[in-house]
Amino acid sequence: MGFITIDREKCNKDGVCVSECPARIIQMDEKDGYPVPAPDFEEYCIQCGHCVSVCSVDALSLDWLAPEVCTAVNRDLRVSPEQAEQFLRGRRSIRTFKDKVVPREIIEKLLDIACSAPSAKNQQPWHWIVVENPEEVRRLAGMVVEAMRLTIRADAEAAETMGLPRVVASWDQGYDRICRGAPHLIVVHADRNWAFGAEDSALALGLLDLYATSIGLGACWAGYVYKTLNSYPPLFEALGLPADHLAFGAMMIGYPKFTYRRIPVRHRPRVSWI
Ligand SMILES: Cc1cc2nc3c(=O)[nH]c(=O)nc-3n(C[C@H](O)[C@H](O)[C@H](O)COP(=O)(O)O)c2cc1C
Repeated sequence: MGFITIDREKCNKDGVCVSECPARIIQMDEKDGYPVPAPDFEEYCIQCGHCVSVCSVDALSLDWLAPEVCTAVNRDLRVSPEQAEQFLRGRRSIRTFKDKVVPREIIEKLLDIACSAPSAKNQQPWHWIVVENPEEVRRLAGMVVEAMRLTIRADAEAAETMGLPRVVASWDQGYDRICRGAPHLIVVHADRNWAFGAEDSALALGLLDLYATSIGLGACWAGYVYKTLNSYPPLFEALGLPADHLAFGAMMIGYPKFTYRRIPVRHRPRVSWI
């Protein structure tokens, strides 16, 4: 059969694995009613692991994924809707950081959680660059400012529209609006030909931001870094991005200096009901 192993002692033939397979490449064997891979299984499996993780009796294993290596969902850890709402609405972009570095193992955990984000076709296209050294973050922020100065010289009107002169003026006065004095910077990059690089990366950074909040860290999108990276070769090279990749996001990370006490009001959803 290959690819899928069914423990016939355990399988209750409920067909849930067939229903949940996004590629529709598991079918019930007409002869004995057990799940089997379709002929095109290998070609179309996106390795999402849903068939393993949805089986209520741990009867299904893939060649590369056994139920035992998948963490069991602990129902006692489910969050209530109230907890979820406060947590999701209460996350803030942090722009003032303590003068304290984040241990590498914590950053590794952040990246691990980020990589559990959804991605188109389950491609998990992410590659990460972590700037651990706060002085290097500052140097890179300075490079972004240099790129801004070039833009201001080349096209003052466009630069004004983007608000660059004010950002540069802040830098010259000693305030870093690029990386906000964060001790660390995380950049996500992916193959430049992957059609969903931007979406997949934004989702991964979104999870990273949320998990960071849950463990008392603060994060903020580094939009100026991200936007400059792909168009300013010195910065692209300074970060060592491969030529066939693009940066799809950058995030500042550190310990927040201040605590937010209230949740600001947002626009109401602008929605058309059809
Ligand atoms: C794509 C993107 C780029 C951003 N770039 C920056 C940035 O360069 N600097 C900054 O201070 N905040 C940046 N932000 C943070 C937004 O300003 C922030 O999300 C917004 O004001 C709402 O605040 P909140 O995240 O605390 O809810 C960025 C956010 C996104 C989604």
